[in-house]
Amino acid sequence: MQIQKAVFPVGGMGTRFLPATKAIPKEMLPVVDKPLIQYAVEEAYAAGIREMIFVTGRHKRAIEDHFDTAYELEAELEAAGKKALLDLVNSIKPDDMDCVYVRQPKALGLGHAVLCAERLVGNEPFAVLLADDLMLGTRQGDGGPTVLQQMVQAYQSNPGTVLAVQDVPKEETGRYGVVDVHGAHATVAEVFAMVEKPKPDVAPSTLAVAGRYILTPAVFESIRRQPRGAGGEIQLTDGIAALIGTEKVYAFRYEGKRYDCGSKEGFLQATIDLALANPELSAAVRAHMVAALA
Ligand code: G1P
Repeated sequence: MQIQKAVFPVGGMGTRFLPATKAIPKEMLPVVDKPLIQYAVEEAYAAGIREMIFVTGRHKRAIEDHFDTAYELEAELEAAGKKALLDLVNSIKPDDMDCVYVRQPKALGLGHAVLCAERLVGNEPFAVLLADDLMLGTRQGDGGPTVLQQMVQAYQSNPGTVLAVQDVPKEETGRYGVVDVHGAHATVAEVFAMVEKPKPDVAPSTLAVAGRYILTPAVFESIRRQPRGAGGEIQLTDGIAALIGTEKVYAFRYEGKRYDCGSKEGFLQATIDLALANPELSAAVRAHMVAALA
């Protein structure tokens, strides 16, 4: 079955980036020249997905505006003959892509956010992308697959829930959903346990879930049945964990790099790496870094 819809939970407050996120959504913070949310949407589009479902909250209008027509801007660019810029603005939302929005009325957790998309998703498998995690496929710059593309491929031969996973240092397990698998080193491994933000001494492994999921519609009912979990929130991890045994859940080791753009450190790493990979910027940035470190 094809994955046709992607859910982007973008209702979070972004407190880690205050004051920058006082009046703009954290998903609109730019890495080089593109907002985080656009990286995630482009990744979903590259994986063949055409329906983008945003679970928004208060103060998130800038995201809707970003994927909408900007009539005045477009008219002015056109009148000024700035064709390249006009094309750039128009490319943000290709004609064959639909954007739909639903509000998460209260910030009750990631599981709750996904549940808010239930009616829009309906009875089909779907992807979830957390825009905070900027993911770059290893050979993506040379036309290789994005992380979600790799997952969609893995899903074709392993239909079920597919979770993007990576090894993390043991002391960091408390930041992630952590899985226990049969065959820890395989690219695709079956998950038999999953826990949200375990302390290092009780973590079942150091295999952590990155912000990319392929989920089945059964997850909705499963989330609904969960009590509040880690941090008092309705956790997506708990909803997925409760499916194990009923449905197949797979951990997929992606080829690529994850930047935790929810943290200042990860955000700066992404900015530096993408600036260095940008042909227009790389020489100047490299020279600046050498001078700054001298
Ligand atoms: C969320 C999920 C967690 C996952 C992480 C990936 O946590 O709850 O399971 O490992 O994203 O970034 P958050 O970062 O929202 O606290």
